Amino acid sequence: MTQSTVAEVIADSSDRMQAAGLSFGHASSSSWDEATALVLSVCELPDHIDALGQILSSEQLARIERLLNKRIEARVPLPYLLGQVKFAGRDFLIEPGVVIPRSPIGELIQQRFEPWLAHPPGQIIDLCCGSGCIGIATALMFPDSELTLVDIDPQAVALSAKNVARHGLEERTRVVCSDLWCDVPDQRFDLILTNPPYVDAADMSVLPPEYLHEPALGLAGGDDGLAIVRQILDQFEQRVSAQGLLVGEVGNSASALLRAYPRLPFFWPDLELGGEGVFLLAAEPG
Ligand SMILES: C[S@@+](CC[C@H](N)C(=O)[O-])C[C@H]1O[C@@H](n2cnc3c(N)ncnc32)[C@H](O)[C@@H]1O
Repeated sequence: MTQSTVAEVIADSSDRMQAAGLSFGHASSSSWDEATALVLSVCELPDHIDALGQILSSEQLARIERLLNKRIEARVPLPYLLGQVKFAGRDFLIEPGVVIPRSPIGELIQQRFEPWLAHPPGQIIDLCCGSGCIGIATALMFPDSELTLVDIDPQAVALSAKNVARHGLEERTRVVCSDLWCDVPDQRFDLILTNPPYVDAADMSVLPPEYLHEPALGLAGGDDGLAIVRQILDQFEQRVSAQGLLVGEVGNSASALLRAYPRLPFFWPDLELGGEGVFLLAAEPG
């Protein structure tokens, strides 16, 4: 029987994903990235060059083959197959039914939102939290903060609670099942984070098959993509603290947002790791 190394299996898996014409938008940007994540995860190996020469067991090869077939034939996004995903340098549990973490806000989190935050935030809220990834990764950067996670979907709320426990944040986090602000206690926040559903109707009608595995509730933002964003902005002044900041993602709907709110002083930070449509809105502009 021929023996296969990690490097060989990554290369072969990457070639097969490429040949199948898959879409790579779920926490990876290429077939090589995905193949690496698949093989290292199945083999429980670190992302390190020393791992590349290891020989895989027949059980490991069989598991990789099974997952690769599902990825290619059913176009299931890899994080759903693995049950976990990295976001902003942290590991999160993920499951079908909850949108897969991939927001470019992750880059700003790792930079501690510098230089835009005047002070370390005391109260942080993640509206439309999904798996809880944005709020949790942020709260981990600010050890003295308190975190509120909000989603309308009970499955997302339950998964967020698991991720909160996984990162040991139970004592300073509350997870609320709410339609946006409706059931959020009446208070102000220093940092309002949101990656809401913002895909407009035209883009929803041409989503690649991988995205159809995600819940439409987590993606669809109405005709112009702004149905949920408008409701968040409506409450901004009542919910932000004096020197607070809103950080939101609207992706392709950025131009619709600018048309809808020509007077709001949005700032659009450069994103070195890719992605688009992340805006900042300060309570006190300038
Ligand atoms: C694009 S997903 C983002 C999830 C997560 N923040 C992330 O970045 O991976 C949007 C989330 O908004 C939630 N959602 C949709 N409508 C909502 C509403 N009216 N109130 C609260 N959450 C809502 C969905 O259930 C979904 O989890």
